[in-house]
Amino acid sequence: MSKKVFIKTYGCQMNVYDSKRMADVLKPQGYVVSESSDDADLVILNTCHIREKAAEKVYSEIGRLKLAKQAKAAEGKDMYIAIAGCVAQAEGPEMMRRAPAIDMVLGPQTYHRLPEMLKSAEEQRSGGRMSARVLDTEFPVDTKFDHLPEESDYTGPAAFLTIQEGCDKFCTFCVVPYTRGAEYSRPVADIVAEAKRLVTSGVVEITLLGQNVNAYHGDTASGETASLGALIRELDEIDGLGRIRYTTSHPRDMDDELIEAHRDVKACMPYLHLPVQSGSNSILDAMNRKHTREHYFDIIDRLRAAKPDLALSSDFIVGFPGETDQDFEDTMDLIRRVKYASAYSFKYSPRPGTPASIMETQVPEDVKSKRLAALQALVNEHQLEFNTNSIGKEMDILLERPGKYAGQLLGRSPYLQAVHVDVSNVQNALAEDADNPYSEFMGKLVRVRISEAGPNSLKGELVSALH
Ligand code: 5AD
Ligand code: SF4
Repeated sequence: MSKKVFIKTYGCQMNVYDSKRMADVLKPQGYVVSESSDDADLVILNTCHIREKAAEKVYSEIGRLKLAKQAKAAEGKDMYIAIAGCVAQAEGPEMMRRAPAIDMVLGPQTYHRLPEMLKSAEEQRSGGRMSARVLDTEFPVDTKFDHLPEESDYTGPAAFLTIQEGCDKFCTFCVVPYTRGAEYSRPVADIVAEAKRLVTSGVVEITLLGQNVNAYHGDTASGETASLGALIRELDEIDGLGRIRYTTSHPRDMDDELIEAHRDVKACMPYLHLPVQSGSNSILDAMNRKHTREHYFDIIDRLRAAKPDLALSSDFIVGFPGETDQDFEDTMDLIRRVKYASAYSFKYSPRPGTPASIMETQVPEDVKSKRLAALQALVNEHQLEFNTNSIGKEMDILLERPGKYAGQLLGRSPYLQAVHVDVSNVQNALAEDADNPYSEFMGKLVRVRISEAGPNSLKGELVSALH
């Protein structure tokens, strides 16, 4: 009889990919993915440690799961609780002490060993114990990618593919180098094989993932090293792969090959998430970002020269230790100059074990809040302006799922805008599938004329189906 696993994912897109891969690892063990923890035999929380709030959420969820586990035990049934991801990596032993309901703790680099961990957890609990104590958070010498099974059950036209993991940059605010470990790039052949399998199963758009994705330097079959730009050209050869995206990039690694890929490769989407974090040189220095604002502007100029319609996005941290009003003004000035199509912004959150957390010049919470609100208001203004400029334009939209209303489908523009597409006027949409009459458009790239724009999404009408 099949068993059920419920995987709850926190944080970044790499965790989304990892959760999918954990399901692939568990499938041969007889586990099917469940949409709820209620009837699950195994619950995995795939956690995020990037900011304090993200980590706190995990502990409250464990509290809820403990009750579910006890209720199941009262019915004579077993439930296993596993904590994966970056909180597990950073605080594994402490978590086990703090939350005795946890059976297993595993890191982002050890989830290929889930079957062994489950086996020892089952052995430990066979004597009627309420919880097991299995911990596996080492950084193995060989990579998990050599042990993962082929991915299965891909649904939907857009997929993630991890090509690079870890970070050697050590920004002073960031836990990633400690939780994900040193930088590692997968070989080109493995990535191309995985991408081909995804395309065969109906995927049209692939987002290449890495904490430092543009630091990618994977081995080629001939023993050379490929940059991300070269990898994109290689992937562009795959028939049926319509769109290539990548995230997250570091300004230092934005090389000419990658900029030229944006210029030359049609499938390389005109959208780039290039976090700058701050517009002040002294803060960038204190953050150990290894670039200045001038360096950043220069990259943006080169990118826009190569690809004039490139939409840009960034991450910002406000209230980093020592940030003065002038430093913050420099960030606002940078935003005014670049004009982002979207951006993510956060209040600085001290993370245990990182250099910035012990800096003496911490910024008061109310100052952080005020700066965050001002920054977000400015970014929202630009975002709305960017969206409004889309009105009247025709764009290729990848339709990903049904919209809120009948006759409406939801997709993404090349610039990653969410677009509600009205397909109700199309005669040949009256397909046999009565429950889902527009299913023939699902997962397809279509040409759409944009008619309306809001701060977070666009609306448009179908002009033609592309293929
Ligand atoms: N505090 C606030 N934001 C942070 N980020 C990373 N670490 C911290 C921290 N300690 C933000 C950065 C990064 C994004 C993923 O999260 O902006 O780019
Ligand atoms: Fe963290 Fe900096 Fe590495 Fe990005 S580049 S993962 S912010 S240490």
